[in-house]
Amino acid sequence: MNIQALINDKVSQALEAAGAPAGSPAAVRQSAKAQFGDYQANGVMGVAKQLGTNPREFAQKVIEQLDLDGIAEKVEIAGPGFINIFLSKEWLAEQAEKALADERLGVAKEETKTIVVDYSAPNVAKEMHVGHLRSTIIGDAVVRTLEHLGHKVIRANHIGDWGTQFGMLIANLERVQKESGEVSMELSDLEAFYRESKKLYDEDADFAERARNYVVKLQGGDEYCAEMWKKLVDVTMIQNQRNYDRLNVSLTRDDVMGESMYNDMLPGIVADLKEKGLAVEDDGAQVVFLDEYKNKDGEPMGVIIQKRDGGFLYTTTDIACAKYRYETLGADRVLYFIDSRQHQHLMQAWTIVRKAGYVPEDVTLEHHAFGMMLGKDGRPFKTRAGGTVRLADLLDEAEERATKLIEAKNPELDAEEKANIAKTVAMAAVKYADLSKHRTTDYIFDWDNMLAFEGNTAPYMQYAYTRVASIFKRANVEQSDLTHPVMITDEKEQALLSKLLQFEEAVQTVAREGHPHVMCAYLFELAGLFSSFYEACPILNAEEAVKQSRLKLALLTAKTIKQGLDLLGIETLDRM
Ligand code: ARG
Repeated sequence: MNIQALINDKVSQALEAAGAPAGSPAAVRQSAKAQFGDYQANGVMGVAKQLGTNPREFAQKVIEQLDLDGIAEKVEIAGPGFINIFLSKEWLAEQAEKALADERLGVAKEETKTIVVDYSAPNVAKEMHVGHLRSTIIGDAVVRTLEHLGHKVIRANHIGDWGTQFGMLIANLERVQKESGEVSMELSDLEAFYRESKKLYDEDADFAERARNYVVKLQGGDEYCAEMWKKLVDVTMIQNQRNYDRLNVSLTRDDVMGESMYNDMLPGIVADLKEKGLAVEDDGAQVVFLDEYKNKDGEPMGVIIQKRDGGFLYTTTDIACAKYRYETLGADRVLYFIDSRQHQHLMQAWTIVRKAGYVPEDVTLEHHAFGMMLGKDGRPFKTRAGGTVRLADLLDEAEERATKLIEAKNPELDAEEKANIAKTVAMAAVKYADLSKHRTTDYIFDWDNMLAFEGNTAPYMQYAYTRVASIFKRANVEQSDLTHPVMITDEKEQALLSKLLQFEEAVQTVAREGHPHVMCAYLFELAGLFSSFYEACPILNAEEAVKQSRLKLALLTAKTIKQGLDLLGIETLDRM
């Protein structure tokens, strides 16, 4: 149950009963400090101002109307007219029992929507770079969360698999095949292959001629070119899939919906936009002028949707793709996890989409932008030589570092278990470091921070889980042995339980806003409250009823951490 929503409803009703206009916001939030209770309603001041009454007096009226019988044990007015709500211990205990009895931990499913999530989206014959890493990790966490809430999620891996560069790539693949026979899927250094293709194109006139010819043929549906194109896509996606699997990212080959998929739609889109009077010819190109965007001379900005030579653009594809996601996939919401530098591009494409009526207003097109990944020096993350960091190399390094760490911490474990722990911690560290930051800002990629066992890190959270789970192991009981009810005898228990019951609020926030750091922050806080509880409240030495209640709190904590990390795509370990 979402307690915040419940209380918000109750306060809204009370506001209205006290004379507030219908729909006045109750603005109920989780309280920042225990002294302000569990929740705080901040809406009274605004309404009082609107009504021209004294806010504290109005707050008193609201409280008289507020029906939180059995839910809250205390409601008080604070400061200029905040209402602080203290939940009842019995009610909290009851909710804990419900959560424990439910494999979803009491998290309700939402009304099912069809949600398309555009993420990862690497480019063919190029290495995945760190921008794709961010998109992949953040997108996948949100996908998992949306699915958990019962939505129908369609993963759309919008790979860059179309464009004139395929002429030179095909020509080069042909050359390599002639020289060394059939190429395996081990065209391991894609970046080098791409550079080599480009060099040949620039320096070898015959090659360039062949390449241009292949572009035309590929676009015309030529079988040979299609086959070569597919080979390039396959090699790339086999390599990317290895990264996805290593990272525990849920994308598969079936989720690929690359740019090429929309190719056949593009002529029709341009024709339609012309017919609707949105696109006009300008210097031989087809252009949509948007009043919403001004160029440097203050004139409406022209967005090219078809070049003079007939070629289409990235924007044209994104117009088609939004249309397809609504029309064909039946999307209610479309989420795009893309670098913030592409914001203007998306806004232009979507402005055109809306003007053309391709996607109705109630279907949201959402750009969930993220900043750059920076090196420790605060500059864009690069290799020492200034090149792109290969994702596979980055993950290898993470494993190497985690192996050393685990070796130092737990030399007595057997080799296989150590290797498994190191791998799990390494991938978790890379992911969590990204997920725990507010995604819109740039963030510094720092090995020492992400692998630390203190602070808001993956090792800390994974260790917290292991520790809580081990308390249970030491008690040597099953959940079904715990027959005594949850009861609150100490304020540390109450603080922990109140936080535990806010899990659903965190899940829903991530789903709504696409901000996984909200879950990380929640779990980190939860782990901290558990530590304080564990320090203050002995478990195994307590008398039986108290012991069982505390074991239940520990169990619910373990389950919540595991579930929360799982929604982030992060694995837990029984031993570390
Ligand atoms: N392939 C693009 C890139 O590497 C990202 C595509 C994002 N998705 C989209 N619908 N434009 O920049």
